[in-house]
Amino acid sequence: MKKIAVLTSGGDAPGMNAAIRAVVRYGIGVGMEVMGVERGLQGLIDDLFIPMNMRSVSDIIHRGGTILKTARCPEFKTEEGQLKAIANLKKHGIEGLIVIGGDGSFMGAKAMTDRGFPSIGIPGTIDNDLAYTDYTLGFDTACNTILDAINKIRDTMSSHERVSIIEVMGRNCGDLALYCGICGGAEVIIVPEHKLTIEEIVDILCGGKAHGKTSGIILLAEGAGHADDLKTELMARTDLVVKSTRLGHVQRGGSPSCRDRYLGTCFGVHAVKLLEKGIGNRIVGIKDNKFYDMDIIEGCAMKKKFDSELYETALIVGK
Ligand code: ADP
Ligand code: F6P
Repeated sequence: MKKIAVLTSGGDAPGMNAAIRAVVRYGIGVGMEVMGVERGLQGLIDDLFIPMNMRSVSDIIHRGGTILKTARCPEFKTEEGQLKAIANLKKHGIEGLIVIGGDGSFMGAKAMTDRGFPSIGIPGTIDNDLAYTDYTLGFDTACNTILDAINKIRDTMSSHERVSIIEVMGRNCGDLALYCGICGGAEVIIVPEHKLTIEEIVDILCGGKAHGKTSGIILLAEGAGHADDLKTELMARTDLVVKSTRLGHVQRGGSPSCRDRYLGTCFGVHAVKLLEKGIGNRIVGIKDNKFYDMDIIEGCAMKKKFDSELYETALIVGK
């Protein structure tokens, strides 16, 4: 392929800029022309193409968000939207597309390939909810942001001898809560894959108190409930002073970690190498520390396995 395009779609994630930079610089390095598409899949329909050169991606590797902007685009689920997108890609002489996003965006990439337009997916989401890859772009940075918040909240909880519920993102996946719960020393971790009853939560907190704990942290995944509701229930059932914090979009921003810059760069290069060989319909990932690619449908159909052993361990070391 001589001319390719890259876009970011769905929720943004730190490290997307590193991936864009790698696609542009590696693509140009192997003799391709590269175009950026603004506002994700919507930009394909609205013809928001911009030519990229080596300097278009200067000074972005350390920046959160995405310089190409991102969007959610209901129209892309329709035949009409997809045909408009392909017509615009062809108008610009583009032969292959790289979509950086989550599983929704991958369905967009799959639709393009089904219509004869080779597309590759790069996993960009803080949720880490894709089974085919050990890590998605942005997860590590989001974990570090959450940990920073936990550390700060812990200082004041311990001074006031209170319990804090911290609600984190992740959609239906508990990975952000699980990893940050372990690394932030949480007493209780509540994830959609393993919901605790209110009695179990009270038991853990009261058990801790009986063993001399004077404060506590509960990490709650958004897919398992809301911090304010849990706070009300705990205050009604115990004499604990409970506070709640919903971290919100602070988790999606910020300068990407070393890990996410590395993943973004290697995912980007891997994706261009596939298009260079004329290969489409693949998603790039990392498994057992090796970069690899697999069929979009097979990859998206894989069901993420919850690490119950890790979860049980987390509750034990949080006691
Ligand atoms: P993410 O990529 O982070 O999972 P979304 O689920 O919001 O985010 O999906 C992003 C976009 O991908 C959607 O707004 C839509 O444009 C596109 N998309 C999602 N599902 C499909 C589908 N079945 N067919 C075509 N495009 C899709
Ligand atoms: O998929 C990433 C994510 O940040 C989820 O964790 C969260 O549920 C959702 O996006 C929030 O989306 P929005 O920014 O549209 O509110």
